[in-house]
Amino acid sequence: MATQTISNAGPKIRTKLPGPKALEVLKGDERYISPSYTRSYPLVAKRGRGVVVEDVDGNEFLDFSAGIAVVSTGHCHPEVVAAIQKQAGELIHMSGTDFYYESLITLAKRLEKVAPMKGPLRAYYGNSGAEAIEAAMKLARYHTKRQGIIAFYGAFHGRTMGALSLTASKTQQRRRFFPLVPGVAHVPYPNIYRKPEGMTAEEHIAECVSFIEDRVFKTIMPPEECAAIFIEPIQGEGGYLPAPAEFLRELRRICDKNGILLVADEVQSGAGRSGKWWAIQHTGVEPDIITIAKGIASGMPLGITLARGNHGLGAGIACFDLWRQSGLH
Ligand SMILES: Cc1ncc(COP(=O)(O)O)c(C=O)c1O
Repeated sequence: MATQTISNAGPKIRTKLPGPKALEVLKGDERYISPSYTRSYPLVAKRGRGVVVEDVDGNEFLDFSAGIAVVSTGHCHPEVVAAIQKQAGELIHMSGTDFYYESLITLAKRLEKVAPMKGPLRAYYGNSGAEAIEAAMKLARYHTKRQGIIAFYGAFHGRTMGALSLTASKTQQRRRFFPLVPGVAHVPYPNIYRKPEGMTAEEHIAECVSFIEDRVFKTIMPPEECAAIFIEPIQGEGGYLPAPAEFLRELRRICDKNGILLVADEVQSGAGRSGKWWAIQHTGVEPDIITIAKGIASGMPLGITLARGNHGLGAGIACFDLWRQSGLH
């Protein structure tokens, strides 16, 4: 197999970068491919094995970002490749909206065992992180019968219209796409590394909490019209900022007090990337919904929305009671 020639010894630069074959590909890309992709450097990847990625000219690089934080077991892990090959030989097309599959249950059972919240849980499967977010938005609105959503400055939740409405990372991602989904309020994410001058971490966290309760809820969004708070337990694109445990505890308190769902976007921070299965487990706070993608499938496109039934509001109808009617697909 060609991939066996890739060494694990370190980077090997064999041509000027980009090399001659890469330049050809870049020319073709310039002519045929949507200019909406935002590449930062001209890597034309051809093969991968473990931590090494080889380009079309035979240059080998060490991939410190696991693709885009996706290949959690390294590039082309032999067991992952074998599982894909086996499945491709058995059944390529599936449609959970129309038919039943044993594997959907097997994975949901495993996820329930490692989830950061108590069960019973139910899983919704899609193809990407953005779809997992869309499903969480729809489920939160459907379940609470409310429209408002709180998200954070610096957040990245995806590029589909709903997920983009929660995203507040770079204006380029939103330019000329308005109007987005209405009802979203963005609030500050605590940054204890760059907190305001003269403020202690505790004061900064308290200020962020107060922004939600004393500004948003008193000026633009009545709390009883807020369906969910979406948070990345470690903000990724926003600068790899872990949310302080105290802040997440406060969000849980606000949610419990007002019948709001707490959604942890673990698309990037989850599947073991922080040393625990889910980044929110470092805080002990239990979300009502988690969104999962990227590392969970080590390269295959998969997005999962995992929601619990009884989210502790005493408010009655369990999230999962509504799955069947919610028309998420
Ligand atoms: C935290 C977070 N949520 C959602 C997404 C969207 O995932 P996808 O690109 O699979 O749609 C990303 C992607 O980078 C992400 O980092």
